Amino acid sequence: MEKEIFSLFRLTDREFALIANLVYETVGIHLPPEKRILVESRLQHLLKQENLPNFETLYQRIVQDESGLLLSEMINRITTNHTYFMRESAHYDFLVHHIFPLWKNLSYRDIRIWSAGCSSGEEIYTVAILIREHFFPYRPEEWGLLGTDISLRVLEQAQEGVYSADRLENLEPFLIQKYFVQLDATTYQVKNEIKDMVLFKRFNLMRETYPFKGKFDIIWCRNVLIYFDQSHKENILSHLVEVLKPGGYLFIGHSETIEREKYHLRFIQPAIYQKEAA
Ligand SMILES: C[S@@+](CC[C@H](N)C(=O)[O-])C[C@H]1O[C@@H](n2cnc3c(N)ncnc32)[C@H](O)[C@@H]1O
Repeated sequence: MEKEIFSLFRLTDREFALIANLVYETVGIHLPPEKRILVESRLQHLLKQENLPNFETLYQRIVQDESGLLLSEMINRITTNHTYFMRESAHYDFLVHHIFPLWKNLSYRDIRIWSAGCSSGEEIYTVAILIREHFFPYRPEEWGLLGTDISLRVLEQAQEGVYSADRLENLEPFLIQKYFVQLDATTYQVKNEIKDMVLFKRFNLMRETYPFKGKFDIIWCRNVLIYFDQSHKENILSHLVEVLKPGGYLFIGHSETIEREKYHLRFIQPAIYQKEAA
């Protein structure tokens, strides 16, 4: 029997520099030289899938591809999209115990919430589920929930709303029962009543302008800033704060830090900041 030989595509220093530069210029993600092996291994399947002989050809193809799909495919593989429901639950506790009571007192609600770097949707769907749990009657016109990401693949997953059971582990069983349909022993799908609450769109946080019609009450940008170098991070943060309502909240990942004074943000508790009132 013939032995199958697994051949590894090698990423040369030159090819790594081309790819790292392209990634930095287009999505702002900084890939230092020590990431070369990681990039080499994460892109192996893409070369095979596209039937390409080497990384330089991949680079050329991406540059020539006006649709941006191949670039998106590559970014998908390089970045970590890992996420799950009720991740960093202190944020959701704050939402329910400190922000929801304020919203409950409003006679007119126009609440807008953005998950910037939403990956496959677990973060914004958790918010949607909590809204359904706490606001009766639910009036769709009062709520605008937006999930955006650079990666088309994760946005498709978000729209489909199908998750393996391990992603739901932090959700209380009664919430799973109420808001998911079990597809098989280990797979669940978010019910349409939750899916319909969220709009998913592709959005590159590196954009020079953030053209949103209205401002947001809360922006969740968690475990995303970690990818950017200081200057890109500062640009993104300035934009995020600009599109927050005065008094609105910014949630970042617990392992991330920001210089809050630069953005006129008030520290509320770890990884929660509030934009100063106008
Ligand atoms: C680890 S996930 C975070 C998901 C979720 N916010 C959480 O904390 O669980 C990071 C996401 O940031 C996205 N991302 C990276 N660079 C981006 C960019 N320039 N614009 C928009 N999204 C980006 C990635 O595609 C990925 O889905």
